Amino acid sequence: MLIYQIYPRSFQDSNGDGIGDLPGICSRLAYIRSLGVDTIWISPVFKSPMRDFGYDVSDYRSVDPIFGSLADLRRLIDEARQLGMGVMLDMVVSHTSDQHAWFEASRRREGGKDDWYLWADAKPDGSPPNNWLSVFGGDAWNWDAARRQYYFHTFLESQPDLNFHNPAVQQQLLDEMRYWLEFGVAGFRFDACNHYFQDPQLRSNPPAPGAHTHALHPYGFQQHLYDKNRPEVPAFLARVRALLDEYGAYSVAEVGGNDALQLTIDYVAPGRLHCAYSFDLLRATHSAAYVRSVLERLATDLPGPGVACYALSNHDKPRVATRWGVGREPGVVARQMLALLACLKGTICLYQGEELGLPEAEVPFERLQDPYGRRFWPTFKGRDGCRTPLPWDGGPHAGFSSAEPWLPMSSTHLALNVAAQEADPDSVLNFARRAFAMRRAHAALHAGDVTFDGGPTDETELGLLRFERRAAGSALVCLFNLGEQALAVPAPSPERMLLSGALRKEGARTLLEPNGFLIATLPS
Ligand code: BGC
Repeated sequence: MLIYQIYPRSFQDSNGDGIGDLPGICSRLAYIRSLGVDTIWISPVFKSPMRDFGYDVSDYRSVDPIFGSLADLRRLIDEARQLGMGVMLDMVVSHTSDQHAWFEASRRREGGKDDWYLWADAKPDGSPPNNWLSVFGGDAWNWDAARRQYYFHTFLESQPDLNFHNPAVQQQLLDEMRYWLEFGVAGFRFDACNHYFQDPQLRSNPPAPGAHTHALHPYGFQQHLYDKNRPEVPAFLARVRALLDEYGAYSVAEVGGNDALQLTIDYVAPGRLHCAYSFDLLRATHSAAYVRSVLERLATDLPGPGVACYALSNHDKPRVATRWGVGREPGVVARQMLALLACLKGTICLYQGEELGLPEAEVPFERLQDPYGRRFWPTFKGRDGCRTPLPWDGGPHAGFSSAEPWLPMSSTHLALNVAAQEADPDSVLNFARRAFAMRRAHAALHAGDVTFDGGPTDETELGLLRFERRAAGSALVCLFNLGEQALAVPAPSPERMLLSGALRKEGARTLLEPNGFLIATLPS
């Protein structure tokens, strides 16, 4: 399955307010389909005060007017379906906005919602109940003067965490999901689902030895034993799966944090979610040995029908063309990354603009919107560099909007606009289409097994990532040079070659340049 992730604020504006919207997405469906996309995942469009740009939901059943209306979403789902694509919503249920009616009721102890969130008394000296910290910096506990208690928030203080230990909360969330399944969505991406439960005894986390030397802020100084990754999560995921199965709907879990690979495996065990992605391939690290270790672990440890899900870019991390290509030509890096994505076993996610080879954008502090980045600037510049508007053409604001966009259009993106790339058969965009068409055409790629040669080899150490994909009657070899130097590789005969880049002949030798790749059929 190929999922295309849309960050709706930055995809296409239709009403001239500088912010992308649902009618804008509708107007670009043919473009999305031209990439071979099966399903669109739209980052949240629910009603929200937008402190975390939609990841703070104040009403799960309505569309925020910034993005349009329920009727617009209906039209999007219908038109996408006519083109053969489903639409998945981003279910952000680990927390709500503090402006959600549930939180308002909870802080006033009304409507039986007293413990719908995680409330706790202060210690006798007034300090918070334990040492839990927020991912976005500072304490994870915020004092509520009305209730005279602290509430817990994994992310911003305006994003209080729901209390999943309360059965009424679980049931309510399943009801919200059912509402959208009835509406006709193809499934959900589950935001931060390893954060659903916390330790009922509120035990403090132990320190993570040595982490204080390199973590961005104290959140990274702890082993997160008690504030996330709790053993109760899988049972709730099984309830979600039972609901999804009533509608034949699909699910993708987002599992954040370090050492999350095992959780992605646990969360897609039989009876749980369909697939899950961690941030292991969204980090800066990208040596062949490292990438291979991630892919190999997923290939061998995944149970039953559950599949891995891979995102090389998304709305939370620097774009891969820059992240894995420091000092390199982004277009060359982008092609290799698209080819790699097309060869991976499982579900793959393509983030808007990845198909254009967009590098990470520079956003000056005065224009920065992301609260996470504003807090840690300039050591950490936040997530706006991957969230700038998509360049569509050579017109004003690159065809994204008739007004100044909410984040600045990146000058390095202008020449990479869609219209220019449509006109160039050798563009990254047209390459992306070829790469995904190759994936669809070969069962070995979209449905086959993956194997790596024995243990890590010298080649891997030098930077060569090599694996084979096999399905009945079809076998392919996939080579990617993730290293710093050209590597000699066996040359397949021309009729076996499916896709290649940065490949060079030197006498009798075939060399893969850095960021080179080669995908070829194998003799059966
Ligand atoms: C989303 C982020 C968001 C956070 C809080 C994440 O994992 O992908 O964009 O800020 O959840 O909802």
